[in-house]
Amino acid sequence: MKITIFGTGYVGLVTGACLADVGHEVLCMDVDEGKIERLKNGQIPIYEPGLAGIVSHTVEAGRLSFTTNVEEAVAHGVLQFIAVGTPPDEDGSADLQYVTAVARSIGQFMDGYKVVIDKSTVPVGTADKVRAAVQAELDRRGLDHDFDVVSNPEFLKEGAAIQDFMKPDRIVVGTDSEKAAELLQEVYYPFNRSRDRMVFMDIRSAELTKYAANAMLATKISFMNEIANLAERLGADVEAVRQGIGSDPRIGYHFIYPGCGYGGSCFPKDVQALARTASGVGYDAKLLNAVESVNYAQKHVLFDKVSHYFQGNLDGKVVALWGLAFKPNTDDMREASSRTLMEDLWKAGAKVQAFDPEAMEETQRIYGDRDDLVLCGTKEQALKGADVLVICTEWKEFRSPDFELVASALREPVVFDGRNLYEPEMLDRYDLIYYAIGRGTNQ
Ligand code: UGA
Repeated sequence: MKITIFGTGYVGLVTGACLADVGHEVLCMDVDEGKIERLKNGQIPIYEPGLAGIVSHTVEAGRLSFTTNVEEAVAHGVLQFIAVGTPPDEDGSADLQYVTAVARSIGQFMDGYKVVIDKSTVPVGTADKVRAAVQAELDRRGLDHDFDVVSNPEFLKEGAAIQDFMKPDRIVVGTDSEKAAELLQEVYYPFNRSRDRMVFMDIRSAELTKYAANAMLATKISFMNEIANLAERLGADVEAVRQGIGSDPRIGYHFIYPGCGYGGSCFPKDVQALARTASGVGYDAKLLNAVESVNYAQKHVLFDKVSHYFQGNLDGKVVALWGLAFKPNTDDMREASSRTLMEDLWKAGAKVQAFDPEAMEETQRIYGDRDDLVLCGTKEQALKGADVLVICTEWKEFRSPDFELVASALREPVVFDGRNLYEPEMLDRYDLIYYAIGRGTNQ
């Protein structure tokens, strides 16, 4: 099938590459000329395991191509996926200007039936706005082409996006049109063969499903972080509690890992946007607001522990930092807990020596050159001359470090672990003092 994707960001590129991989003819359009030029030359703008390989072989096979030409993009596919960004407005609600701009372009150039599919995470009611924008352009042109608008939210996790797309838990499709439903069924058939994963519903419910999923996951995390904070004050170990509650299938083991707060481009933005949507319809979403404020506080917890250890005097201290990305297997630093920590440390006069397996360039891009940040080539280098070690991201290579070396390299043998990577007794053996999240009273 011929498919057009607007937006070559995370969602657009993964969707385009995976659809081309199973045989569809995909044209990806973006207004960013530099980005399209680089993609044409085989340069992938994001770090995502497996993506580069799929892009290169589908481009070679002629099934995936790129353009900045809107007219060509609208002409190409019967299916027009909108996968452009919806950054938060100043008040936290999603900014829809890019989504509606694409909708207008579609109306401006369409010459026959099209299905316009919202893949970006958009507030409930956006499909109506998209429909109105397309229709307004058609009216302006005096044309009466038929079209449908569909909500088809994506549930990709960064670092596992290809696998999530190829083997989805569910494919949510919100539509009021049988014709559009049939076309979507055909597009997704290759991903849906072993069992039926397609869940059809009305458009507004599909739009809300996306937010509900992310808000639920964020709630689980903030809940566990609250229990962790409580465990510290009560002399309990949250890791034992986690296993104790996770064994109940109604709770489950997934997404109940306490830590130094959730980050990324989705949870913080989506929880806020849903809370805004709620207040927009006169509903005070108390739980969502609490999820958000617990997370905000949790991002400062590591700093509080470090500061407490040094009795509030961090001036001139050197902190080794392992992990900058908001989670492993990505170079994404958006809303990363490491940023809150570094900014808190800098304000207090401390210096940071940081290492991350993928996010070094991104950190350099965000913070530039500054005296209180040294970007190190290895995790061992980050330790040299540092007072203490802090861990913000659970990269695999941090899981079993050479503890002897850690203990000897640091001026003070102290490890602050924001991801609970180690057993406290293990570090005890190396005479390392260990502060984790929610593990007993000395935390
Ligand atoms: C999230 C959702 O997991 C995807 O299902 C969704 O499609 C995506 O947002 C989206 O809306 O596009 P992602 O932001 O890539 O995916 O990252 P996650 O793996 O969900 O992690 C988010 C944050 O939660 C990370 O900072 C992670 O460290 C933290 N986390 C996760 C915890 O602190 N504890 C946990 O138990 C799990």
